[in-house]
Parts: sequence; C-alpha cells; structure tokens
Amino acid sequence: MSDTDVAHVIPGQGAVMGGYRISRRSVLAAGLAGGALVSVGGAPALAGKPGGGGGGAAAGHPLPVPAPVAADGLTLTARRTAVDLGGGRTGSALTYNAGCPGPTIEVQSGSTPTITVTNGLDEPTTVHWHGLVVPTDVDGQPHEAFPAGTRRAYTLPVQQRASLNFYHPHPHLRTAAQVALGLQGALIVRDAEEAALGLPAGRFEVPLVIRDANIDKQGTLTYNGRASGFLGGVPLVNGVLNPYLRVDRAHYRFRVVNAANSRVFRLAFSDGRPMTLVGTDGGLLEHAVDLSEITLGNAERLDLVLDLRGLTAPVQLVDRDSGWTLLDLRPTQADVSQTAPVLGRQLSVVERLVGPAQPSRTFSFDGMTAINGVRYQMGATSFQVQRGQVERWRFVANGNPPHPVHIHGASFQLVGRTGGRGQLFPWEGGWKDTFLLLDKESVDILIRFDLVGRYLIHCHKLEHEDAGMMLDFEVVEGGSSPMVAGTADGAHGDHGDHG
Ligand code: C2O
Ligand code: CU
Repeated sequence: MSDTDVAHVIPGQGAVMGGYRISRRSVLAAGLAGGALVSVGGAPALAGKPGGGGGGAAAGHPLPVPAPVAADGLTLTARRTAVDLGGGRTGSALTYNAGCPGPTIEVQSGSTPTITVTNGLDEPTTVHWHGLVVPTDVDGQPHEAFPAGTRRAYTLPVQQRASLNFYHPHPHLRTAAQVALGLQGALIVRDAEEAALGLPAGRFEVPLVIRDANIDKQGTLTYNGRASGFLGGVPLVNGVLNPYLRVDRAHYRFRVVNAANSRVFRLAFSDGRPMTLVGTDGGLLEHAVDLSEITLGNAERLDLVLDLRGLTAPVQLVDRDSGWTLLDLRPTQADVSQTAPVLGRQLSVVERLVGPAQPSRTFSFDGMTAINGVRYQMGATSFQVQRGQVERWRFVANGNPPHPVHIHGASFQLVGRTGGRGQLFPWEGGWKDTFLLLDKESVDILIRFDLVGRYLIHCHKLEHEDAGMMLDFEVVEGGSSPMVAGTADGAHGDHGDHG
C-alpha cells in the first residue's frame, strides 16, 4: 500500500498536523481515478465518490435522517445487522436498532428516562452518553462493561441544558473497534429556553453524524486501527456514502457530531458561504457567530444554522483537509413559509466559571498510550477533586497529535491556549466536554463537578484511548488530592477497587 500524506492545515497557523493517508496510487492502480478507494487489508474496492465536489450531481444517496425516538422506555440493541452504506451492496455493521448511526434519541431536560441496552454482540460492551452529566454508575464507563447476551438498564437523570450529545460504546480495549464498526448515535436534550428561540425544527433540523470508514467489497464496515489512529478511506454521513439532501428555500439547523475515531474535519461550504454557529458541545452560545470554516475534533459537536433561502444551485459541505464532499445540498426551489430565527440577539446566558489564575493540575498528553506518563489501569484512581469547587486544569501535548481531550462528569470552559495555534476559536466557546489539543499547545480550562463519583479523562482519538491514554479520578465531598506523584507504573496498583 502506498499512502500519500496530506498536510493538515490548521486555521490561524497554517501548521501541519497529523498525516492523513489517502491511497491515491492504489486508486489509480485500480483504474478508478476519481473514485473512492476503500482499502481493506490492502485490497481496494470502489465505493461511492466522496470527492466529487458536485460532479456526478445526479448520483448519490438521499441522506438518511434517523427518526427521533423518545429516550424513556427505549431499548437499544447492539448487534451485527445488514446495512446498506450506499456502495451498491448490502453488507453488515455493528448497529444500534439496525442503524449505524442508531436512532436519534430525544430527552427533555429535567426528565429521568430509562434506556435499556441489549448486548447482542459477541463481546462485552457498555454505552457512554457522551456529553450527559450523569451519575457515575450510569455513565457507561469501562469497568461497567456487561457481557454478550446480557442487558443493562440506564436510568439517566438529565438535568442539563439543551444540547447535542453522542452515545457510543466504551469497553476498555474495544471502544475503537466497536465505534468504527458502526456503534454510534446522536442524543438531543431539549429545553424551554432553546424552544423559545424558534430555531428550525422538524425536517429543517438535521443531525449529521460524520465519520470516515473502510468498507470492503461486500459492503461491510471493516476496521484496522493502529495505536497511531485509524483513518478510513471514505466519509459516511448518517451512515451512507455520497449523501445528498434536497433543501427548500429555508433556514436549516444542522446538528453535527464528529463520530470518527481519529479524523479531524475542517468543515466548510464549497462556495465559502458562512455557517452560523449557535451552539457547541454543551448547548447554546450566548451569541451566534458566522464562520466560513470550522475545525471539528473527534466527539466535538456543533449546532449550525444555515440560511438557504437564496439557494439556486447545489452547494456542498466539504472537509477541506481530505478534499471530501461530505454532503451535497440540492435546492428544490420551493419557498417555505417559516419564521426566520432571530439570531442577532443574545441566545442564552452562559454562566462564566470563575476560578484560580494558576492551574492546580497539569495533564500531559505525550505519545499515544499514557497521560502524565501513566497508562490507564482499570480501577486505579489518579486523584480526587472536591465537588463544587472550580479548578483550573492545564493540558499540554508533546508529540503524536492531535489529541482530542475529553472529560466525563462535567462540562468545562476553555480559558486560554498558548503555543501551537496560540488562540481559542469560536467553536470552542460555551460549555465544552471535548477539545482539540495539538502539538506544543497548552490549554487551560475551568471546570467544576457537581456530582460525586468516579469519572474519566481520556484522549478521544479512540486508538489512543484504547492504548491507555486515559485515567480515572474521583469527585468527592470535601477534600481533594493531587495527581498521584511520580506515576511510575505500579504506583497505582494499590488503589483499585474494581476488577
Ligand atoms: Cu465519547 Cu469517554 O467518551
Ligand atoms: Cu491522543
């Protein structure tokens, strides 16, 4: 296999990050120039045409929009089922309720739904409700994985504001494979504040679960990640290749999640039109901001409003790094009477965390397998945090970027970045639970935990996570403790109370 490294340009810096591998030579060798290569164990296969940029406009597949389902009483069944990814053959994938992504789950803030997960896989799994701040025993952490052939009920007290969240498996050592093979989905929290804004709803609100993938000749998702990551040969949006969406002359709301294991997307429209960002991981921003390009790290989410009232010709949502067309928007030319959302005023009030000027903890994401030199060991608790206390945490990276940093158990606010890109970006505003840390960067956050219990910090490049770039900590009532010092392997072994 001959891979071509494609430079990843970061806005505001023009720096190179990561080596994105596209097997162009193999495409040519197969006589399929312009076609997408799906590479499986070295064997190329044609599957769609993601890089078309509008060419072959008649082709493509209608974007599936998983119908929203209410969370309470829902059963999610994880198992291998047949799927049609749009490559011309019906293959298979790991699915939730026969979908990859699974159903879009809706929850009203203030409610306490119970979702039952049935494990129809042939190995343990667990579901983490990424973005929900819920008690530790229903957070779906690795030590809560449950065996094949069993089920688990999650009762989720959802107290947080309206937001788009991301559910996915979290069994230790198997997270990356299970997610890449299809287990992922969107979970939307609704509340009254957001409803009052009159943002586009119904068919004008479209979740976009964006990822890359490898698909074999049978049309089956395959996975061959390495410790350094996994970069699939083709993009999938809501589980299909080369999707298009017929759009009326109206405002649309796109709820975007980067569901890829390792690939960072640099989202833009082919004609450079602005995307109006109204929210991030933890819900609405205070003010909408127009952006022509957004870098979206793994598991980060975006709430975008698009004014398509003047659209007369197709326009594409693209990834500027890979050159892929992700979604082709094709105008119907139909005018729709719709109350235009008022985005020029304050959308929400985001409580500003106030905390220390100096960090009390520093987390170093170096290499691919450890945080602060310590490799994840299930049951080891690295430190304790006091509930209700605002802390300032610093994250630094030295090598093997990008590291999408994710923290369970609380949302946080970014307060500064030095080194690397040297600034914070509009899509890093508001409440966050995941952010992108590039090489040589130092990012400070303010964070406060409101629930006691055991939570996790990890790299959301899922191959890094599985390789051990993850640690457990504990939120306690009264008291805190520093990071376990020195952190040689073994320093942790005595703390475990989980198997
Ligand atoms: Cu989205 Cu601990 O993960
Ligand atoms: Cu990492």
